Amino acid sequence: MAANQPNPPMPDAQGARPEVLTAAKLWPPMMEALHGAFMVHDRVHQSDPAAFAAVAPRIRAIAASGESKVPRELIAQMPALEIISVFGVGYDGVDVAAALERGIAVTHTPNVLNDEVADLAMALALAVSRRIVEADRYVRAGRWASGPMPLARKVSGARMGIVGLGRIGLAIARRAEAFGMSIAYTARSEKPGSGYRFLPSAERLAAEVDFLVVITPGGAGTRKLIDAKVLAALGREGYLINVARGSVVDEQALVEALKNGAIAGAGLDVFEDEPNVPAELFALDNVVLTPHVGSATWQTRHAMGDLAFANLAAHFAGKPLLSPVPEMGRKAA
Ligand code: 8YV
Repeated sequence: MAANQPNPPMPDAQGARPEVLTAAKLWPPMMEALHGAFMVHDRVHQSDPAAFAAVAPRIRAIAASGESKVPRELIAQMPALEIISVFGVGYDGVDVAAALERGIAVTHTPNVLNDEVADLAMALALAVSRRIVEADRYVRAGRWASGPMPLARKVSGARMGIVGLGRIGLAIARRAEAFGMSIAYTARSEKPGSGYRFLPSAERLAAEVDFLVVITPGGAGTRKLIDAKVLAALGREGYLINVARGSVVDEQALVEALKNGAIAGAGLDVFEDEPNVPAELFALDNVVLTPHVGSATWQTRHAMGDLAFANLAAHFAGKPLLSPVPEMGRKAA
């Protein structure tokens, strides 16, 4: 994605550029790189079904984002499809089973965004408990002169619970350690080498922590994992931070818990039906809302774009993929 290094066109044996469908509105530098190397059909399946039907038999790759929907029905319309490259670590919108049945490769962008998402998790924990956004509004509204703000809740030394101790979960844990926090986690299986305390369910974990940070993959296996019972266990002094997927949290239960004080507050970067956010949250001071910006810095988006593009380039050059999804087995170089 380096601006001074244009990506070379990638002709196949017949000299034609491979045809690529974009499954979502992609970041402009990523689009530029794709246009430089491939023949790109930008979201034509959404905008013009007749035009899509005409090009679908020739499409060999899909470039998707972390939020993209690539269901079985869409995959089935492209008989020549060879690879789906996701610009994002999460790929819960892609029907990986349907792809793998047909030998279609699926890649994503792990690792390059660990720091960024972990930074945002800490930022949201600090923002909501130290009332940073509320405090900013307080000053701007000229209310300081009429008295101090209500006190906040201390983060340093508090208890953090992490739901999903993968690459990003560990990056969050390292940051929390620097804040003197005690760390416990839940995950599909215990990670004995981690040195952190394992609890077998989100509910058990929630009952023992002050901050519950959700960073587990989305998809059917984690849908509404954080439900009313987990929120009740987190309790009136507890904060929920979600930097994973909106689908992991029962959003209606969360809205209720925030409205009636069943939990102290929440920091939310992801939502069930993005970009739609429950309007009831807008009036609440105990929630900080960000528009799915976990990986959204220039530095990290460039790194993600480079990796997503490099996977496509490797595929069409007949080289090993750099970051296939784990379901593909160990095909990485
Ligand atoms: C998005 C993400 O991919 O990595 C993920 O799983 O959700 C994000 O990084 C990004 O917003 C691009 O759409």
